[in-house]
Amino acid sequence: MKAWSVILACLAVFPAHIQAINDSYDYVIVGGGTAGLTVGDRLSESGKYSVLVIEYGYLEPDGQRPGTLYNITSAPVSGLNNKTFPVSIGCVVGGSSAVNGMVFQRGNAKDYDVWGELGGGNPRVSWSWVDMLMYFKKSIQMTAPKPETAAFDLRYDTRYWGRNFTTNHTIFATFGNVINPKTHPFYEAAKRLPGMKVSPDAGSGQLGLQYYQTSTSPYTGARSYSRTGHWDGLNRANYHLLAATRVSKVIFDRDRAAGVQIYPRGEKARNTVIRAKKEVILAAGAIHTPQILQLSGIGPADLLKRAGVPVKVDLPGVGYNFQDHTFIPAVAFSWSTSPPIPAHLNTSVVDDKLGRTSLGLSVELPVVSPRSFKRIASQYESQDPAAYLPKGTDKTVVRGYRKQQQIYAREMRAREFSFLRATLSGEPSFVPIVIHPVSRGTVLIDPAAGSDIEVEPIVDYRAASNPTDVDVAVEEIKFLRRLMTSGDLARYNATELAPGPGYESDEALAAWVRANTIPSVYHPVGTAAKMPREWGGVVAEDLLVYGVRGLSVVDASIMPTIVAGTTSMTVYAVAEKAADLIRLRAGRDI
Ligand SMILES: Cc1cc2nc3c(=O)[nH]c(=O)nc-3n(C[C@H](O)[C@H](O)[C@H](O)COP(=O)(O)OP(=O)(O)OC[C@H]3O[C@@H](n4cnc5c(N)ncnc54)[C@H](O)[C@@H]3O)c2cc1C
Ligand SMILES: *[C@@H]1O[C@H](CO)[C@@H](O)[C@H](O)[C@H]1NC(C)=O
Ligand SMILES: *[C@@H]1O[C@H](CO)[C@@H](O)[C@H](O)[C@H]1NC(C)=O
Ligand SMILES: *[C@@H]1O[C@H](CO)[C@@H](O)[C@H](O)[C@H]1NC(C)=O
Ligand SMILES: *[C@@H]1O[C@H](CO)[C@@H](O)[C@H](O)[C@H]1NC(C)=O
Ligand SMILES: *[C@@H]1O[C@H](CO)[C@@H](O)[C@H](O)[C@H]1NC(C)=O
Ligand SMILES: *[C@@H]1O[C@H](CO)[C@@H](O)[C@H](O)[C@H]1NC(C)=O
Ligand SMILES: *[C@@H]1O[C@H](CO)[C@@H](O)[C@H](O)[C@H]1NC(C)=O
Repeated sequence: MKAWSVILACLAVFPAHIQAINDSYDYVIVGGGTAGLTVGDRLSESGKYSVLVIEYGYLEPDGQRPGTLYNITSAPVSGLNNKTFPVSIGCVVGGSSAVNGMVFQRGNAKDYDVWGELGGGNPRVSWSWVDMLMYFKKSIQMTAPKPETAAFDLRYDTRYWGRNFTTNHTIFATFGNVINPKTHPFYEAAKRLPGMKVSPDAGSGQLGLQYYQTSTSPYTGARSYSRTGHWDGLNRANYHLLAATRVSKVIFDRDRAAGVQIYPRGEKARNTVIRAKKEVILAAGAIHTPQILQLSGIGPADLLKRAGVPVKVDLPGVGYNFQDHTFIPAVAFSWSTSPPIPAHLNTSVVDDKLGRTSLGLSVELPVVSPRSFKRIASQYESQDPAAYLPKGTDKTVVRGYRKQQQIYAREMRAREFSFLRATLSGEPSFVPIVIHPVSRGTVLIDPAAGSDIEVEPIVDYRAASNPTDVDVAVEEIKFLRRLMTSGDLARYNATELAPGPGYESDEALAAWVRANTIPSVYHPVGTAAKMPREWGGVVAEDLLVYGVRGLSVVDASIMPTIVAGTTSMTVYAVAEKAADLIRLRAGRDI
């Protein structure tokens, strides 16, 4: 067997976890992360297909150790005073789901309807809130809050969740047993701000105040992630995992993806090929999926030529359309007198192994800024879409962005699309997130590094390259000021610490925003977008890569626009939907 050298290399490090691997499988999945293991589980569950997942990170022996991260530093972000930032993504079996913050949220219902709009009206596959809700229900087991939290207005509605599962091989969304009573005054004050809603359920896709779950086992309080849900304990003869192994490129037979080239971590010279009989599925995440595509000859032709990579498909969108949420670490106040806690909420309770349930806020632009939302929408709408994209962006990519621009301008004036997310921690300090940024970045191989996969791609967030995102962040700060200094909370005479006195004008606030914004909430998406090819898309509605056969992308890269919440729950649902699409075409020649 050709792969023996690889097996032996891996056996030496992790004897217990590497099953014998074959030369070929029906499905070869690149990346054993959040999406990769979910798809692997679903494609192998009938027993009909053989599946191999190849993961660069290690299979941590006890599954609970904090995973490792890639060591990537971003390009200088010119909109953020030329600073560079760490690019945090998981490098371990389980991928980013093994290292993330476990905040478990959905986007707005409108987000997924927008994905449908950005699909250009494909009659065969539908992406919309209704479709995604089906897969949210399938992918996640919700555990209802315990009676201890009943004193709080914690709203949930089982219609947004599936029935009780009969398996523990799933991902859990669990409420904590404890709520910090200090959140109560914030809840009451925020609820009374003009236009503010209360969401019927954190998973309802609706905006407003909401207590939300974490991805936690309701039994043990441990992290619930793709490894615990979709690998551990399955022990299927047809579902193999090869850890500590790098995929360096996709191999083609003419226009069909025939397999992948791999080598043991750190041993580049010892490469071999694993063949895929049905499909190669890229699930390497939004930073590495575009890198692998580009190194396999699928990407912007001019870039590939400069890097000396033979061009297989000139697909200009690969690595473009890069998005992440941005945040400001602290808009901070101090109380002159802390708000009192009603006695009935001061329950010195209980079993807190599930942690605290947190209170979130998701707000549309007309409520963030009743005075400025129209101006911001008009200014944004009137921009030349190419003006704020990277120089030399292909016209198809510009066309897709123009479509996004029209949709975002419309949603800036509407009530179903969030522009601010924040957690109300109970302390008078906030971490406002620009949850629907309009700036777009790039993830591109470094032409100077040629075709070397060991050299990380250049990650250029380009955060705040579009001034509209700064305008929105300025309005978010003013919104938080209103929360603290008008209405219910006014009487506690808060003093503003950050930005603090002296930041009154929009110009002063904008400068402060640029000096204090972090360009990533660790939610990179969009670099292999599901959009029509003439709009700069990389994959079609069925997630197959344009221009070749037998190659699909299933991970955060396919999101055409980022969703208004943490991203992992959406990635699980995308993976479940993808598995259905893949099984559907399994019998056909693709
Ligand atoms: C620090 C951090 C905090 C976060 N906090 C939250 C949160 O609180 N809530 C939330 O919902 N989301 C959070 N996220 C985001 C969320 O976890 C991700 O959006 C999601 O897990 C991405 O899933 P994915 O399948 O696209 O990619 P990943 O899960 O990252 O999987 C990609 C996998 O591919 C592997 N890989 C890459 N290149 C290769 C190669 N060449 N060969 C072999 N394998 C390769 C990687 O090692 C990785 O395991 C956070 C992420 C991070 C990193
Ligand atoms: C990142 O650096 C740390 C510390 O040097 C190292 O342990 C880890 O393996 C590196 N991660 C990757 C993916 O190379
Ligand atoms: C950022 O760097 C560029 C190029 O070096 C320079 O032109 C620009 O003035 C810098 N911007 C800031 C805010 O320092
Ligand atoms: C799920 O099970 C719990 C506890 O066993 C029960 O309280 C709840 O009503 C069930 N939910 C559904 C939707 O069946
Ligand atoms: C899931 O695991 C818990 C804790 O080990 C156990 O009590 C429960 O019965 C299991 N559920 C199923 C459906 O196997
Ligand atoms: C691996 O190859 C052996 C021998 O041909 C075969 O019996 C087995 O089913 C294969 N397993 C997978 C997962 O492909
Ligand atoms: C809650 O109650 C405890 C004792 O029961 C008391 O010490 C504490 O001060 C109370 N906390 C608040 C915020 O009222
Ligand atoms: C807030 O300030 C006003 C006016 O200075 C004062 O009357 C009031 O007592 C203060 N309230 C608190 C809670 O400190």
